[in-house]
Amino acid sequence: MFPKNHWYAVAWDHDIKQAPFGRTICNEDMVFFRRPDRSLVALENICPHRLLPLSEGKVAGDKITCGYHGLTVDGAGTCVHMPGQENLNGKRLVRTFPVAERHRFVWVWIGDDDLADEGLIPDLHWCSDSAWVADGDTFHIKCDYRLLVDNLMDLTHETYVHPTSIGQEEIAESPIETTSDERSVTVTRWMHGITPPPFWANNLGSSEDCDRWQVCHFTLPANVMIDVGVAPTGTGAPEGDRGKGITGIVIDLMTPETETTTWYHWGMVRNFDINNPALTKQIREAQATVFGEDEVVLERQQEIISRHPGRRLANFNIDKGSMLPRRLIDHALTTGEQTAA
Ligand code: FES
Ligand SMILES: [Fe+2]
Repeated sequence: MFPKNHWYAVAWDHDIKQAPFGRTICNEDMVFFRRPDRSLVALENICPHRLLPLSEGKVAGDKITCGYHGLTVDGAGTCVHMPGQENLNGKRLVRTFPVAERHRFVWVWIGDDDLADEGLIPDLHWCSDSAWVADGDTFHIKCDYRLLVDNLMDLTHETYVHPTSIGQEEIAESPIETTSDERSVTVTRWMHGITPPPFWANNLGSSEDCDRWQVCHFTLPANVMIDVGVAPTGTGAPEGDRGKGITGIVIDLMTPETETTTWYHWGMVRNFDINNPALTKQIREAQATVFGEDEVVLERQQEIISRHPGRRLANFNIDKGSMLPRRLIDHALTTGEQTAA
Protein backbone atom coordinates (compact mmCIF):
# COMPACT_ATOMS: atom_id res chain seq x y z
CA MET A 1 0.00 0.00 0.00
CA PHE A 2 2.97 2.37 0.65
CA PRO A 3 6.12 2.60 -1.48
CA LYS A 4 9.10 1.40 0.55
CA ASN A 5 12.63 2.78 0.53
CA HIS A 6 11.65 6.41 0.43
CA TRP A 7 11.95 9.43 2.70
CA TYR A 8 8.58 10.61 4.01
CA ALA A 9 8.00 14.02 5.58
CA VAL A 10 7.33 13.70 9.31
CA ALA A 11 6.59 17.32 10.12
CA TRP A 12 7.71 20.90 9.62
CA ASP A 13 11.03 21.28 11.45
CA HIS A 14 9.59 23.65 14.09
CA ASP A 15 6.91 21.11 15.04
CA ILE A 16 9.47 18.69 16.50
CA LYS A 17 10.89 19.92 19.77
CA GLN A 18 12.46 18.24 22.79
CA ALA A 19 9.14 16.74 23.95
CA PRO A 20 8.10 13.37 22.46
CA PHE A 21 6.28 13.72 19.14
CA GLY A 22 4.27 10.60 18.28
CA ARG A 23 3.28 9.89 14.68
CA THR A 24 2.07 6.89 12.76
CA ILE A 25 3.65 6.83 9.31
CA CYS A 26 2.88 4.09 6.79
CA ASN A 27 1.34 2.12 9.66
CA GLU A 28 4.61 2.31 11.66
CA ASP A 29 4.24 3.82 15.12
CA MET A 30 7.07 6.25 15.71
CA VAL A 31 8.20 8.75 18.29
CA PHE A 32 10.53 11.63 17.54
CA PHE A 33 12.37 14.01 19.83
CA ARG A 34 15.36 16.33 19.88
CA ARG A 35 18.46 15.87 21.96
CA PRO A 36 19.87 18.96 23.71
CA ASP A 37 22.10 19.58 20.66
CA ARG A 38 18.88 19.59 18.54
CA SER A 39 19.85 16.37 16.71
CA LEU A 40 16.88 14.12 16.04
CA VAL A 41 15.89 10.74 17.44
CA ALA A 42 13.35 8.42 15.77
CA LEU A 43 12.26 5.32 17.68
CA GLU A 44 9.43 2.86 17.43
CA ASN A 45 6.69 4.31 19.59
CA ILE A 46 6.14 1.14 21.59
CA CYS A 47 7.59 0.45 25.02
CA PRO A 48 8.93 -3.13 24.90
CA HIS A 49 7.60 -3.80 28.40
CA ARG A 50 3.82 -3.45 28.29
CA LEU A 51 3.53 -1.69 24.93
CA LEU A 52 2.52 1.79 26.08
CA PRO A 53 3.48 4.36 23.43
CA LEU A 54 6.80 5.88 24.48
CA SER A 55 5.39 9.25 23.42
CA GLU A 56 3.31 9.12 26.62
CA GLY A 57 6.58 9.35 28.56
CA LYS A 58 9.15 12.07 29.12
CA VAL A 59 12.39 13.10 27.44
CA ALA A 60 15.31 14.14 29.61
CA GLY A 61 18.54 15.03 27.86
CA ASP A 62 19.09 12.46 25.13
CA LYS A 63 16.90 9.75 26.67
CA ILE A 64 13.21 8.94 26.86
CA THR A 65 11.50 7.36 29.86
CA CYS A 66 8.31 5.36 29.53
CA GLY A 67 5.37 6.93 31.33
CA TYR A 68 4.20 3.63 32.87
CA HIS A 69 7.05 1.89 34.77
CA GLY A 70 10.07 4.01 33.92
CA LEU A 71 11.99 2.00 31.33
CA THR A 72 14.52 4.43 29.87
CA VAL A 73 16.23 4.16 26.48
CA ASP A 74 18.66 6.36 24.60
CA GLY A 75 18.42 7.55 21.00
CA ALA A 76 19.82 4.24 19.76
CA GLY A 77 16.99 2.38 21.49
CA THR A 78 19.40 0.97 24.08
CA CYS A 79 18.11 0.43 27.59
CA VAL A 80 19.89 2.59 30.14
CA HIS A 81 17.57 1.98 33.09
CA MET A 82 14.73 -0.27 34.17
CA PRO A 83 13.60 0.08 37.76
CA GLY A 84 14.26 -3.10 39.76
CA GLN A 85 16.29 -4.74 37.00
CA GLU A 86 19.96 -4.45 36.01
CA ASN A 87 20.35 -7.03 33.25
CA LEU A 88 18.56 -5.03 30.56
CA ASN A 89 21.08 -2.20 30.62
CA GLY A 90 23.06 -1.96 27.39
CA LYS A 91 20.55 -4.03 25.40
CA ARG A 92 18.92 -2.67 22.22
CA LEU A 93 15.24 -2.89 23.12
CA VAL A 94 13.61 -0.39 20.78
CA ARG A 95 13.82 -0.17 17.01
CA THR A 96 15.20 3.02 15.45
CA PHE A 97 14.39 4.66 12.10
CA PRO A 98 16.72 6.71 9.89
CA VAL A 99 15.78 10.36 10.36
CA ALA A 100 17.05 13.56 8.75
CA GLU A 101 16.31 17.26 8.62
CA ARG A 102 16.39 19.15 5.32
CA HIS A 103 14.67 22.14 3.71
CA ARG A 104 12.47 23.02 6.72
CA PHE A 105 11.13 19.48 7.13
CA VAL A 106 11.99 16.41 9.19
CA TRP A 107 12.12 13.20 7.13
CA VAL A 108 11.99 9.55 8.05
CA TRP A 109 13.09 6.61 5.90
CA ILE A 110 10.59 3.81 5.43
CA GLY A 111 12.24 0.65 4.16
CA ASP A 112 15.61 -1.00 4.44
CA ASP A 113 17.72 1.09 6.84
CA ASP A 114 20.90 0.25 4.93
CA LEU A 115 19.53 1.99 1.83
CA ALA A 116 18.72 5.28 3.60
CA ASP A 117 20.66 7.81 1.54
CA GLU A 118 20.08 11.46 2.47
CA GLY A 119 20.82 12.36 -1.15
CA LEU A 120 17.37 10.96 -1.96
CA ILE A 121 15.48 13.47 0.20
CA PRO A 122 13.09 15.39 -2.07
CA ASP A 123 14.54 18.64 -3.37
CA LEU A 124 12.79 21.56 -1.68
CA HIS A 125 15.75 23.92 -2.00
CA TRP A 126 13.50 27.02 -2.17
CA CYS A 127 12.63 26.45 1.47
CA SER A 128 16.26 27.06 2.49
CA ASP A 129 16.96 29.86 0.01
CA SER A 130 16.95 33.44 1.32
CA ALA A 131 15.51 34.69 -1.98
CA TRP A 132 12.28 32.87 -1.15
CA VAL A 133 10.00 32.75 1.86
CA ALA A 134 8.25 29.55 2.94
CA ASP A 135 5.31 28.91 5.22
CA GLY A 136 2.57 26.34 5.61
CA ASP A 137 0.99 23.83 7.93
CA THR A 138 -0.05 20.18 8.31
CA PHE A 139 -3.56 18.77 8.03
CA HIS A 140 -4.77 15.33 9.02
CA ILE A 141 -7.03 14.15 6.20
CA LYS A 142 -9.17 11.05 6.47
CA CYS A 143 -8.41 9.68 3.02
CA ASP A 144 -6.03 7.44 1.07
CA TYR A 145 -2.92 9.50 0.19
CA ARG A 146 -3.48 8.68 -3.48
CA LEU A 147 -6.71 10.66 -3.54
CA LEU A 148 -4.65 13.71 -2.56
CA VAL A 149 -2.20 13.00 -5.37
CA ASP A 150 -5.12 12.76 -7.82
CA ASN A 151 -6.48 16.04 -6.54
CA LEU A 152 -3.21 17.93 -6.89
CA MET A 153 -2.27 16.54 -10.28
CA ASP A 154 -5.62 17.50 -11.78
CA LEU A 155 -6.29 21.17 -11.17
CA THR A 156 -9.45 21.29 -13.27
CA HIS A 157 -11.21 20.78 -9.94
CA GLU A 158 -10.26 24.34 -8.99
CA THR A 159 -13.04 25.59 -11.23
CA TYR A 160 -15.64 23.72 -9.19
CA VAL A 161 -14.13 23.28 -5.72
CA HIS A 162 -12.43 26.67 -5.38
CA PRO A 163 -14.57 29.04 -7.48
CA THR A 164 -14.13 32.07 -5.21
CA SER A 165 -10.33 32.07 -4.81
CA ILE A 166 -8.15 30.42 -7.43
CA GLY A 167 -10.68 28.73 -9.68
CA GLN A 168 -11.70 30.04 -13.06
CA GLU A 169 -13.41 28.60 -16.13
CA GLU A 170 -10.24 28.81 -18.22
CA ILE A 171 -8.51 26.14 -16.10
CA ALA A 172 -10.85 23.38 -17.19
CA GLU A 173 -10.76 24.67 -20.76
CA SER A 174 -7.00 25.01 -21.22
CA PRO A 175 -5.14 22.00 -22.55
CA ILE A 176 -2.45 20.29 -20.53
CA GLU A 177 0.86 18.83 -21.58
CA THR A 178 2.01 15.76 -19.66
CA THR A 179 5.52 14.35 -19.51
CA SER A 180 6.91 11.58 -17.34
CA ASP A 181 9.86 9.36 -16.65
CA GLU A 182 10.30 6.43 -14.27
CA ARG A 183 10.52 8.77 -11.29
CA SER A 184 8.26 11.71 -11.93
CA VAL A 185 5.27 13.15 -13.78
CA THR A 186 4.89 16.76 -14.87
CA VAL A 187 1.60 18.32 -15.98
CA THR A 188 1.88 21.79 -17.52
CA ARG A 189 -0.99 24.13 -18.23
CA TRP A 190 -0.80 27.65 -19.63
CA MET A 191 -3.74 30.02 -19.72
CA HIS A 192 -3.02 32.91 -22.08
CA GLY A 193 -4.56 36.35 -21.89
CA ILE A 194 -6.93 35.66 -19.03
CA THR A 195 -8.29 37.86 -16.29
CA PRO A 196 -6.40 36.89 -13.12
CA PRO A 197 -8.55 35.49 -10.32
CA PRO A 198 -8.64 37.47 -7.04
CA PHE A 199 -5.61 35.91 -5.32
CA TRP A 200 -3.30 36.52 -8.25
CA ALA A 201 -4.73 39.93 -9.19
CA ASN A 202 -4.13 41.15 -5.63
CA ASN A 203 -0.55 39.94 -5.52
CA LEU A 204 0.30 41.06 -9.02
CA GLY A 205 -1.27 44.45 -8.22
CA SER A 206 -3.20 44.41 -11.47
CA SER A 207 -6.34 42.95 -12.99
CA GLU A 208 -5.10 43.46 -16.53
CA ASP A 209 -4.87 40.43 -18.82
CA CYS A 210 -2.18 38.01 -17.81
CA ASP A 211 -0.70 34.66 -18.70
CA ARG A 212 -1.15 32.13 -15.92
CA TRP A 213 0.76 28.89 -15.47
CA GLN A 214 0.39 25.76 -13.37
CA VAL A 215 3.13 23.15 -13.54
CA CYS A 216 2.37 20.16 -11.31
CA HIS A 217 5.40 17.98 -10.60
CA PHE A 218 4.90 14.60 -8.91
CA THR A 219 7.74 12.54 -7.48
CA LEU A 220 7.59 9.26 -5.60
CA PRO A 221 6.47 8.36 -3.05
CA ALA A 222 3.71 11.02 -2.88
CA ASN A 223 5.09 14.52 -3.25
CA VAL A 224 3.65 17.19 -5.53
CA MET A 225 5.26 20.59 -6.11
CA ILE A 226 3.15 22.99 -8.12
CA ASP A 227 4.90 25.89 -9.80
CA VAL A 228 2.21 28.55 -10.14
CA GLY A 229 2.12 32.19 -11.13
CA VAL A 230 1.00 34.94 -13.41
CA ALA A 231 2.69 37.57 -15.57
CA PRO A 232 1.16 40.40 -17.60
CA THR A 233 0.36 39.20 -21.10
CA GLY A 234 3.01 40.16 -23.61
CA THR A 235 5.92 40.20 -21.14
CA GLY A 236 7.33 36.88 -22.30
CA ALA A 237 6.45 34.46 -19.53
CA PRO A 238 5.37 31.60 -21.85
CA GLU A 239 8.71 31.99 -23.64
CA GLY A 240 10.59 31.73 -20.35
CA ASP A 241 10.94 35.30 -19.07
CA ARG A 242 9.04 35.61 -15.81
CA GLY A 243 10.76 38.86 -14.86
CA LYS A 244 7.49 40.82 -14.80
CA GLY A 245 5.53 38.05 -13.14
CA ILE A 246 5.22 36.47 -9.71
CA THR A 247 5.92 32.84 -8.87
CA GLY A 248 4.99 30.54 -6.04
CA ILE A 249 5.73 26.89 -5.46
CA VAL A 250 2.91 25.08 -3.71
CA ILE A 251 4.44 22.33 -1.59
CA ASP A 252 2.38 19.20 -1.01
CA LEU A 253 3.99 16.33 0.89
CA MET A 254 1.59 13.46 1.48
CA THR A 255 2.63 11.14 4.28
CA PRO A 256 0.34 8.13 4.65
CA GLU A 257 -0.65 7.43 8.23
CA THR A 258 -2.79 4.38 7.48
CA GLU A 259 -4.55 3.07 4.36
CA THR A 260 -7.31 5.65 4.82
CA THR A 261 -5.65 8.56 6.62
CA THR A 262 -2.89 10.94 5.57
CA TRP A 263 -0.70 13.62 7.11
CA TYR A 264 -0.82 16.37 4.53
CA HIS A 265 2.07 18.82 4.81
CA TRP A 266 1.41 21.84 2.66
CA GLY A 267 2.76 25.27 2.14
CA MET A 268 3.90 27.85 -0.33
CA VAL A 269 7.27 29.33 -1.08
CA ARG A 270 7.26 32.58 -3.02
CA ASN A 271 9.74 34.96 -4.53
CA PHE A 272 7.62 38.12 -4.39
CA ASP A 273 7.22 40.59 -1.52
CA ILE A 274 9.24 38.25 0.65
CA ASN A 275 9.76 40.67 3.54
CA ASN A 276 6.05 40.98 4.18
CA PRO A 277 5.04 38.72 7.09
CA ALA A 278 1.44 39.93 6.87
CA LEU A 279 1.29 38.58 3.30
CA THR A 280 2.92 35.33 4.42
CA LYS A 281 0.20 34.91 7.04
CA GLN A 282 -2.52 35.88 4.59
CA ILE A 283 -1.31 33.31 2.03
CA ARG A 284 -1.14 30.59 4.68
CA GLU A 285 -4.68 31.36 5.80
CA ALA A 286 -5.91 31.47 2.20
CA GLN A 287 -4.25 28.12 1.47
CA ALA A 288 -5.81 26.64 4.60
CA THR A 289 -9.23 27.75 3.35
CA VAL A 290 -8.60 26.34 -0.12
CA PHE A 291 -7.29 23.00 1.20
CA GLY A 292 -10.18 22.89 3.66
CA GLU A 293 -12.45 22.88 0.59
CA ASP A 294 -10.48 19.95 -0.81
CA GLU A 295 -10.62 18.14 2.52
CA VAL A 296 -14.42 17.98 2.40
CA VAL A 297 -14.34 16.41 -1.07
CA LEU A 298 -11.54 13.96 -0.24
CA GLU A 299 -13.10 12.69 2.97
CA ARG A 300 -16.49 12.23 1.34
CA GLN A 301 -14.81 10.29 -1.50
CA GLN A 302 -13.05 8.07 1.05
CA GLU A 303 -16.29 7.36 2.88
CA ILE A 304 -17.83 6.07 -0.35
CA ILE A 305 -14.70 4.12 -1.31
CA SER A 306 -14.59 2.47 2.13
CA ARG A 307 -18.28 1.54 1.96
CA HIS A 308 -18.03 0.24 -1.62
CA PRO A 309 -14.61 -1.42 -1.82
CA GLY A 310 -15.44 -3.07 -5.15
CA ARG A 311 -16.12 0.20 -6.95
CA ARG A 312 -13.45 1.39 -9.36
CA LEU A 313 -12.52 4.98 -10.13
CA ALA A 314 -13.32 5.97 -13.71
CA ASN A 315 -10.63 7.69 -15.76
CA PHE A 316 -11.74 10.39 -18.17
CA ASN A 317 -9.67 12.73 -20.34
CA ILE A 318 -8.88 15.11 -17.46
CA ASP A 319 -7.36 12.28 -15.43
CA LYS A 320 -4.22 11.79 -17.51
CA GLY A 321 -2.16 13.82 -15.04
CA SER A 322 -3.26 11.72 -12.09
CA MET A 323 -3.22 8.32 -13.81
CA LEU A 324 0.52 8.47 -14.43
CA PRO A 325 1.49 9.07 -10.77
CA ARG A 326 -0.79 6.19 -9.79
CA ARG A 327 1.03 4.03 -12.30
CA LEU A 328 4.40 4.95 -10.77
CA ILE A 329 3.07 4.27 -7.28
CA ASP A 330 1.61 0.91 -8.41
CA HIS A 331 4.92 0.01 -10.02
CA ALA A 332 6.80 0.91 -6.82
CA LEU A 333 4.35 -1.18 -4.80
CA THR A 334 4.63 -4.25 -6.98
CA THR A 335 8.38 -4.19 -7.51
CA GLY A 336 9.45 -2.69 -4.18
CA GLU A 337 12.11 -0.98 -6.23
CA GLN A 338 14.03 1.92 -4.88
CA THR A 339 13.32 4.97 -6.99
CA ALA A 340 15.07 8.27 -6.47
CA ALA A 341 12.89 11.13 -5.25
S1 FES B 1 5.02 -0.21 29.84
FE1 FES B 1 6.81 0.93 29.62
S2 FES B 1 7.95 0.51 31.40
FE2 FES B 1 6.19 -0.70 31.60
FE1 LIG C 1 -7.87 21.91 -4.53
